Amino acid sequence: SASAQRADPRPTYHFAPAKNWMNDPNGLVYYDGEYHLFFQYNPHGDRWGHMNWGHAVSRDLVHWQELPIAIPETRDVMAFSGSAVVDWNNTSGFGRDGKPPLIAIYTGHNPKAKLQSQYVAYSNDRGRTWTVHGEVLSVGSPEFRDPKVFWHAATKRWVMVAVMALENRAVIFTSPNLKQWTFASSFGPAGGRGKNWECPDLFELPVAGGAPGETHWVLGINLGDNAIGGGSGGQYFVGDFDGTRFTPVPGWSGDTQWMDYGADFYAAVSWNDLPKDDPRRIWIGWANDWRYAETIPTWPSRGLMTVPRQVTLKKTPEGYRLAQMPVREVASLHGARQTFAAALGETPTALPIQGGSADLEFELDTGASEQVAITLTDGEGYQTIIGVNPSVDEVFVDRTRSGPHFNDGFANRHVAPVDLKSRRVKLRVLADESILEVFINDGERTITDRFFRGGGPLRWSASSRSGVAQMKLTAWTMNGGAVNT
Ligand code: FRU
Repeated sequence: SASAQRADPRPTYHFAPAKNWMNDPNGLVYYDGEYHLFFQYNPHGDRWGHMNWGHAVSRDLVHWQELPIAIPETRDVMAFSGSAVVDWNNTSGFGRDGKPPLIAIYTGHNPKAKLQSQYVAYSNDRGRTWTVHGEVLSVGSPEFRDPKVFWHAATKRWVMVAVMALENRAVIFTSPNLKQWTFASSFGPAGGRGKNWECPDLFELPVAGGAPGETHWVLGINLGDNAIGGGSGGQYFVGDFDGTRFTPVPGWSGDTQWMDYGADFYAAVSWNDLPKDDPRRIWIGWANDWRYAETIPTWPSRGLMTVPRQVTLKKTPEGYRLAQMPVREVASLHGARQTFAAALGETPTALPIQGGSADLEFELDTGASEQVAITLTDGEGYQTIIGVNPSVDEVFVDRTRSGPHFNDGFANRHVAPVDLKSRRVKLRVLADESILEVFINDGERTITDRFFRGGGPLRWSASSRSGVAQMKLTAWTMNGGAVNT
C-alpha cells in the first residue's frame, strides 16, 4: 500500500530484492570475478512461502545486481537454505569443457512427505542457469537442513555441516565427490538453545593476539528464538576441527557468545572460495527477526541483507572472541565527507548528517555524564536512539518509540555489554533508511536493528545527561549500492 511504501524508503546501499519476500542468504561463493548472493525468496508474494533461490551478483560486495531465480521450487519440494562451492577438481563430474562447475548443496523441503533432505544442483555458466541433480543425502528426518559445504584441504575432501534443527544439534558429513556423504560427528546441544538451530557455518581463522601461526575454527549456529535480541539470532563456538569433529577450545565458557546484540542479524553465513589473494572471512546476515519478519511495514519487497562484514578472531582476556567490521569496499560508496566536533549537554546538538543513509564514525568521551544519546528523529517525532551508559558498561539501541506500532515483538531496547571504564567508545554506524548497523570499538560488539519511521525526513542529534561529553564525528553520505534490474 502507499502508506507502507512511505513508511520505508528503499534502502540505498543494502541489498533488497526488487519485490517480494526474502529471508536467509544462501550459496555465498566467489567465482570468476563475481561474488554470488543467493537468497531464500518467494517470487509469489511478500510473506514466507514457495521457497526459491533468488540470485544477485556483485564484483565488489557492495554494488549488487539482481538476476533471475536460480533454483525454483518444484511441485513437492521447496529449495531451502544451503551453500555453494566451486568444484575446482571436478570431483562431482558435473564440469564441462575443462571448467569447474558451481555446485549448490541445499535442503529440499518436502512438506507432503514430511522430509528435509540435501539436494545438489550445478551450473556450468557462472551461476546463470542451474540443473537440479537431485537428492544426495537423507536421514529420514523432517528437520535436517541448511548444509554448509566447504573443501577441507588437510583431509582432501568435502565437509558438510548441517543441523538436526529441533534437536539443537549440528551434524557433520564428509564426501569425496559432493554426491556420496558419510556421517562424521555431531555437536550439541550446547550454548544457546531454543526451538531450533539453523544455518550453521564452520571456518578457520587466524588468532589476532595469539601465538605465532595460531588458528582456530569457528562454528556459527543460528538460533530460531531465544537469542539475545529477544527472538532469532546467531551464536558461535570457537574450537578446533580435524576434518571429522568440532571440539570447543579447552575452557570454552558456558556463556553463550552472540554474533550480534540487536534483533536483526540472522542466518549469517560466510562466502566460500574467496580469491586466492584475499585471506578474509566475510559473512552477511538477513536483517530481520522471525518474531515479526512477515509483518514489517515495507513494500514492495520485504527482506533486507546487512552489508557484508569481515569477521576476525581475537584472543582477549575473556577468551577467544569474534569481531566484525563492514568490508572495506563499503568506502567505495562514500560521497561527501564531513567532520564535526562538539561538547554535548542536555540540549540536543544537531549533527551535520544529511538523511537516513550514511556511514558515521563517532568517537565519544562520556566524561562525567550518565548517558550519551545519538538520536534519529523522523518528521512525525518518532525516535530511535543509540545510547552509551558508562556506569553500567552498556551500549544500546532503543527503538521503543521508533515508529507506528506494527508488531508486539518489535518495540524494544537492545543492549551490548561494553567495557566503558575509560569512558571512551568508538561507534561506527551504517545507517540506511530503515536499518542501523552499529559496530562498537572496532567491531568487538555489534548491534543490528531495523527501524520503521512514521514519515518525513530523518534528523540526527546528540545529547548527554548530567555532565558534558565530547563527540568527534566523521560522516559520509552514501551513494547507492543496490542495483536491481
Ligand atoms: C532460517 C530458515 C532455514 C530454512 C529457511 C527456509 O531462517 O528457517 O532453517 O532452510 O529458513 O526458508
